[in-house]
Amino acid sequence: MDKSTIVCRCEEINVDEIETVLKMGAETFDDVKRITRCGMGPCQAKMCVKHVSNLISEYTGKPLAEIPPARARMPLKITRMRVLAGTESHASTVKAVFEEGDPDEK
Ligand code: FES
Repeated sequence: MDKSTIVCRCEEINVDEIETVLKMGAETFDDVKRITRCGMGPCQAKMCVKHVSNLISEYTGKPLAEIPPARARMPLKITRMRVLAGTESHASTVKAVFEEGDPDEK
């Protein structure tokens, strides 16, 4: 792979940038992510995690199975407490928010 080959299309991170981070001591996908933003794009690393893991494996000599997977995070969105309490279904939350209107106007 050429050093200018893009590994993370979303954040436009190339092989050279990944190798630089690995030379600095990065050993996991999350290490690479924190320094380069690789994996923070709209696809949330679905496209690049495998390529980066392969580069980490090649650079460190560790088998792929020993490279920890990327840390998964919960999706963020507004959730009403009554939905969490189970007194309202999740599907109606959006409708409920629109029906409530602006709380500052009350
Ligand atoms: S390709 Fe890396 S975050 Fe999308």
